[in-house]
This record gives sequence, structure tokens and C-alpha cells, in this order.
Amino acid sequence: MTLVSKDILKAAEILSRNELVAIPTETVYGLAANIYSDTAIKKIFELKKRPFFNPLIVHIHSMEQVMELAVDFPEKAQLLAKAFWPGSLTLILKKQAAVPDLITAGNDTVGIRMPQHDLTLELLKSLPFPVAAPSANPFTHISPTSAQHVKNYFNGALEMVLDGGDCKNGIESTIVGFENEEPVVYRLGSISIEDIRAVVGNVTLKNNKEKAPNAPGMLEKHYAPRTKTYLVENIAHFVAQHPDQKIGLLLHIKEPKDHGVEKTIYLTETGDLKEAASKLYSAMHELDKWDLDMIVAQRLPDTGLGKSINDRLERATK
Ligand code: TXA
Ligand code: MG
Repeated sequence: MTLVSKDILKAAEILSRNELVAIPTETVYGLAANIYSDTAIKKIFELKKRPFFNPLIVHIHSMEQVMELAVDFPEKAQLLAKAFWPGSLTLILKKQAAVPDLITAGNDTVGIRMPQHDLTLELLKSLPFPVAAPSANPFTHISPTSAQHVKNYFNGALEMVLDGGDCKNGIESTIVGFENEEPVVYRLGSISIEDIRAVVGNVTLKNNKEKAPNAPGMLEKHYAPRTKTYLVENIAHFVAQHPDQKIGLLLHIKEPKDHGVEKTIYLTETGDLKEAASKLYSAMHELDKWDLDMIVAQRLPDTGLGKSINDRLERATK
């Protein structure tokens, strides 16, 4: 049985034995391990069934730790860190030699983030090492936004989930790297491109294989329910074309219309995109439980967090 508890001392004790603990963050739950123990880090890859070419994000609790991990902290990266840390921003920086290759998949860069969650920050402060933490889901599955989601995936195979409640942002951090000193977004996430631009001016978006063949981990299929999933513009039209199917709908805004399907989840009452992001994965977990023939998700407006949500939904349909 996996222990689900708020006991930080216990979590620290397990991590210090080079075992894994799932930790809460404001984005999604992460599967944490000591970055300096190859034994511990290998356990992350084994438990997630994640390929070794996909690097991990290192989680820190203070700005000073950046220079333990990176050789250089460029000005625009510092501006972003000051604006968004603790928070849902991952910076890709040139790595120190001491950062193990297992963490970075042999790249000369390392992903760093300071999460915004009191319990996890307190845990990180108590440890003599930073932790690496990918999302706490099996490779390509839906990310967990509650302790229960993590337990459902790994019960018995994982010693402990540190229970920090539901993740308030609900989708992963935005990943920003630098090419010739200019910021490049490699993964859309909880912080919108508009918000990044407001701090550092123009940024390039390279969040797919065609644009960034060397950016690891930008997998086409990801965040996927077991149930076949579709992303559509016109729900009524799609439903009419699939009369004999058990359909689960994932809609943006509560609407009076009844589409006559098996199950419907509304992400919001009013359309607020932050609320929609925070509920996205739990709605997908819920629909996936219902033994449906298909999940049909509605495309959201392609601005702000809507862009990040559409990105996740697109990958879920692959
Ligand atoms: O919100 C988040 O970022 C969550 C929480 C737990 O912090 N973590 C997370 O980790 O989403 P993961 O492993 O599921 O996704 C990390 C992404 C991967 O796509 C990986 O390829 C990319 O970050 N990444 C990590 N290090 C990188 C590097 N050095 N260069 C390019 N991409 C990197
Ligand atoms: Mg992930």
C-alpha cells in the first residue's frame, strides 16, 4: 500500500534513502528523487516506463541553487525567474558538469523550476539535494492533479505520496530555453505566452517536432486517456455523425443544450481559462473511468491558457 500523507519528515527520510516520493506542486504531482543518486533516478524511469532520452526537470527552493546546477544565468532568464518563481515556469539553462547525464538525457542543458507549493518548498528546504520530478504518471498517460490520481497509478509500487491537495493550476509548467540569448518556448503550459512576452518581449514558439527536432520530450502522443479521444470544433455536428457510440463530452462552458450523450463534463460555468486549465486533467481522469466508446473534447479559444489547453487536448488525441 502506498502511504498518502502530509508528513514532510517521512517524505524527506524516504528521499534520503534514494527512494521515490510523489510530491504536490501547483501544476501537477511529480515523482521525485535525489538528483545525485543514479540509483534513485533510474527508479523514476522504471516506474514511469519512461525512455531515457526524455530529460527530467530539477526542482529547487531558492534562487541561489540555480548556480549549483547551471553555469550561466542569462539576463532574460533572471527576469523570468524573478517574475514567475516560485511558479509554473521551467528554465532550460547550460548545465554544470556535476548535474548527472541521467537527468539531462546527455544534453548540455538542464531544466530548472521552483514550484509554488508550501508543503513541497518546505520539503525541498529540508533536503541536502535538489530533486528531479517528472509528472507522476506512466509515460504518455494523463498527468495527476490529486494525490488519489497518483495512488490510482502506482499503488503498492511507490512508498509515499505527499498529499498537498488538488493542484491549483492543473497543467504543467511552461518551458523556456534560450537560443542566441533569445527566449524560446518549448512547451506551452500554466503561464501563457502573452505573460512571458510581457516580461521579456518577443519569444519564439517551438513546441513540436518539426520546429524543434532536437528538443527532447515534445512527444506527439501524451496526456492521453485510455479511451479514444477526439478534439472538435462543432460538438453537435460530431455527435450527430456518431449515433451509436457511448460518448463522453468535455465542454468548455456550461450550456443548456443537452447533446443526448452518455456523460458530459463542463470545465467552467463562465469560460474562465484558468479555471478550465485547473480542471482539465481531473475531467479527463473522470471520463476515462466511464467505459465510453469515445471522449469528445471541445477546442477552446486559441489565446492565453486556451492555447496550452488545446495543445494538451491535441496530444491526447494522437
Ligand atoms: O509542471 C511541471 O513541469 C511538472 C511538475 C511535476 O513540476 N513536471 C513535468 O515534468 O511536467 P515532465 O518530465 O513530465 O516533463 C518535462 C519536460 C519533458 O518534455 C522534457 O523533455 C523537458 O521537460 N525537458 C527537461 N529537461 C530538458 C532539457 N534540458 N532540454 C529540453 N527539454 C527538457
Ligand atoms: Mg509529463
